[in-house]
Amino acid sequence: MRNPWLGLLFLSAMGACASSGSSTGIELVTCATDSTLTYENYGAAFISTNCLSCHRSNESPTLATQAAVQANVENILDTTVYTDYMPDGRSLTNAQREELGAWLACGAP
Ligand code: HEC
Repeated sequence: MRNPWLGLLFLSAMGACASSGSSTGIELVTCATDSTLTYENYGAAFISTNCLSCHRSNESPTLATQAAVQANVENILDTTVYTDYMPDGRSLTNAQREELGAWLACGAP
């Protein structure tokens, strides 16, 4: 490695987590008391469009039902809101990630 600093950066990134994606810069999300987002009017379509090509049954966790999404709230926040690890092979804007986070923070109602 010609530049020793690059080596250090690489090592510290690997140390944090081998495959956690990059931080999106989105801070801890919270549930707004006036949130109107629900599985029916938002979540089902979002997950279907962005996740179910892989997480319907092939990839763990499966996210095909509201209960399944609710059981994986923390994991989805980590992979899709706070980092861009998911959705694999697709891109989302930070506004989309924030909206997803706001819904998940309410418990994916
Ligand atoms: C193109 C396929 C694909 C799409 C689309 C996709 N995923 Fe994944 N996902 C994977 C694969 C493959 C893994 C397991 C391997 C890995 O961790 O890299 C995974 C792993 C995960 C995990 C588990 C991570 C862990 O370390 O426990 C979560 C949570 C997840 N995905 C959520 C989502 C969400 C939410 C979406 C939609 C916004 C999504 N994924 C879209 C392929 C996909």
